[in-house]
Amino acid sequence: MAHFEKAKNLNEWLDQRLAVNTLKKVMQTEYWIPKDINFLWAMGMVLAATFGMLLVSGIFLLMYYKPDTNLAFDSVNYTIMSEVGYGWLWRHIHGVGASLVFLIIYIHMFTGIYYGSYKKGRELIWLSGMGLFVAFSAEAFSGYMLPWGQMSYWAGMVITNLFSGGSLEAYGLVEWIRGDYVPADAFLTRFFMLHVLLLPLAIIGLIVLHFGTLRIPHVNNQEGEEFDYAESAELYKAGKVKESKVIPFSPVFLSKDVFVMGVYFLLFFYLVFYHFEFAMDPVNFDPADGLKTPAHIYPEWYFLWSYEILRPFSKDLGLIAFAIAQVIFFMLPFLDRSPNVAPASRRGLFKYWFWAMLIDVIVLTFMGKLPPTDALFATIGLISAVLFFVLWIALPFITKSEKKL
Ligand code: HEM
Repeated sequence: MAHFEKAKNLNEWLDQRLAVNTLKKVMQTEYWIPKDINFLWAMGMVLAATFGMLLVSGIFLLMYYKPDTNLAFDSVNYTIMSEVGYGWLWRHIHGVGASLVFLIIYIHMFTGIYYGSYKKGRELIWLSGMGLFVAFSAEAFSGYMLPWGQMSYWAGMVITNLFSGGSLEAYGLVEWIRGDYVPADAFLTRFFMLHVLLLPLAIIGLIVLHFGTLRIPHVNNQEGEEFDYAESAELYKAGKVKESKVIPFSPVFLSKDVFVMGVYFLLFFYLVFYHFEFAMDPVNFDPADGLKTPAHIYPEWYFLWSYEILRPFSKDLGLIAFAIAQVIFFMLPFLDRSPNVAPASRRGLFKYWFWAMLIDVIVLTFMGKLPPTDALFATIGLISAVLFFVLWIALPFITKSEKKL
């Protein structure tokens, strides 16, 4: 066994056994952040902090929630909301956090797309990020089932119906997923298990992986300038250049992250106390009823764009389109064939591609919320869904012909 000196303090004791100072040293002297970035680079830490809020508030909710179709609705809407001290606060934090986390994820994703932060060397950052997106989507969907309101039940019904495989009629698959012919007790308990155990574990693992993938390529910068970050710091330390182009992550950049987080949490708690209703669907305040279909079934706002891609097509085509839309963003590093790491504004046709994609996803989101009865909106929905695929098909061609900067 290694020889252990008598430790002078707890930090030293822990360092001898766990090498805790190694991480500190890396963060302070080896993990560099370029100076040429803006507040959008704080979104990753804002996401991590929001996930922390979701975990803590979720643990408090879990103390009173009852995963049973006879008890779930009342345990949330009566026990937690009015009987348990500050139960309403934890529920509002959880609901607002779940909605905001998607807003920030989309900002973080489109920032990455705009600056080309998924390119050579950074592919794994992108892929692990997309893994997080899918895991968060599953986490949000399973969580939405738990209050066992009308929207929980009917959204659960519609989404699990997708697994009937269109005209393939994948026999028994939907029942296997539900554990019953319709969403019922087995359905609720398995989504409960996914929401409080399996998916949070997967998310924590993916966050560790995502952070790990940043270590070697480091984060990108506003101009996509490729240089050796460590060398730049060394040159500055040796007095060979007047100014370093990079700063250490801790405590220099971290303090900026904390500032942005502070501003974000002001908005967060403003919404928690004064506008929490935006994160809660009124239809879900009616208990689940398998005999009463709501007039209009739609998902939460963050799923609307992909829902709208499903809706305009016939059953089989819709299913295929929906499945592709879920995974196509994974392919971005491989479909973008241009060698340039640069902001979209400096990249030929890609500049138009970026804005067309962003606007298209926003239009799809708005259309997804509207009832499918209006012919004009249905046509806009169809055009936007087709445009989504046209843009993805065009991407390798327009990026291949891009001039090297
Ligand atoms: C809870 C989920 C997530 C957390 C906690 C997280 C955290 C972070 C952090 C801390 C950074 C470094 C600083 C920054 O650029 O903000 C980062 C960078 C990055 N993330 Fe995420 N992220 C998450 C989800 C995602 C998703 C969904 C994507 C997209 C698919 C993504 C793609 C990226 C990319 C491309 C970078 C590199 C940015 C650059 O090089 O400039 N992340 N992430």
